[in-house]
Amino acid sequence: MNTRISMAAGGLLPAIMLLASCGQVRLANDPLTLSKQGSSLEAVQARSAAANAPAKQPTASPSPASAAAALSQPAEARDMSSMPGMAAAASAPASAVPAPEQAHVAYDARLTPAPTEAVVHITLTAKEGVQEIAPGVKYAVWTFGDTAPGPIIHVKQNDTMEFTLKNEGTMQHSIDFHAAETPWNVNYRSINPGESLSFTFKADHPGVFMYHCGTAPALMHIGNGMYGAIIVDPATPLPAAREYVLVQSEFYTKPSATKGVLDGDYTKMQNGRPDYVVFNGMANQYTGNNSLTANPGELIRLWTVNAGPNDFSAFHVVGAILGKVYPDGNPANALSGMQTYTVPPGGGAMIELTIPNEGFYPVVTHSFADASKGALAMIKVGNPPPAAGGH
Ligand code: CU
Ligand code: CU
Repeated sequence: MNTRISMAAGGLLPAIMLLASCGQVRLANDPLTLSKQGSSLEAVQARSAAANAPAKQPTASPSPASAAAALSQPAEARDMSSMPGMAAAASAPASAVPAPEQAHVAYDARLTPAPTEAVVHITLTAKEGVQEIAPGVKYAVWTFGDTAPGPIIHVKQNDTMEFTLKNEGTMQHSIDFHAAETPWNVNYRSINPGESLSFTFKADHPGVFMYHCGTAPALMHIGNGMYGAIIVDPATPLPAAREYVLVQSEFYTKPSATKGVLDGDYTKMQNGRPDYVVFNGMANQYTGNNSLTANPGELIRLWTVNAGPNDFSAFHVVGAILGKVYPDGNPANALSGMQTYTVPPGGGAMIELTIPNEGFYPVVTHSFADASKGALAMIKVGNPPPAAGGH
């Protein structure tokens, strides 16, 4: 039996308007979107699109413990200031990333199991929309599905992927799966608005891979949000763990003709001068009430992709050792006891760690200019008392 991942949910515009009207301008994982998916299998698979309602904890509004506020809290800043870089990260976002004024819906970072079937149907829909990339900052994204990043695709080694790209945008788009071995000139070609393209590939190699639009200029299509992660479980199952997916990327902004919505700035992209660097499409979104959680001593598995388009990620967890790092997520690539691991644009890593003690542990890129622009996620281990000043 086949399963289907369909991100071609209709009703995007009404969903935008409804969410905007209640202060939730971000579309990620919206149950309204899910309800428009056809079958229950689609709904199950759409979790790959990051869609489990229980994880969508609207941030209390306004919450000093949330998002950028967590970074700019004096108490947390003090906690982090034992590292000079952290002090910089803690103070800079106060101006670079405004404090949240509205609740938003976080992209669901949790990894849920791959379907059991050996043939997996995946449909990605290229489209253009608006996304909140930092609290109160709306950006004209180009996406697969309704969000940047697009849905998390999770399959098993040796699965057959029956893939379809639909172009519901206003310009040419294409797909490039780093997990596939397939001719670029045939299956990664650009298609026009209204067209679709299908091909089949076998997920021969385990790991965590980027997918993206490669239509020229690829810098612009990736810079505007056309990327996501595909995770291929190894044939030999991994031990059970608390699993999260973090896709790092940059946004380069300029004012647009549409009041209140920023556009991509191609010149800034070419010069590598991002305004925001984010995990899963929004600056500092996994902080405060949206922190990632784990128990003391529990195995945590972080799957990360660096979508770039330009900056390298210096993946680091403050207060923790990366017990095992598997470059590109292949179990054959084991590194042990790492402090920081470099993930290039277009690369990935699978990181396993356990954190023995209750507390707060920030995940950052140790390239602190980028951490200060939003590439920070908090792991809350156990039930520590809130940081002073937080809730
Ligand atoms: Cu594109
Ligand atoms: Cu690529």
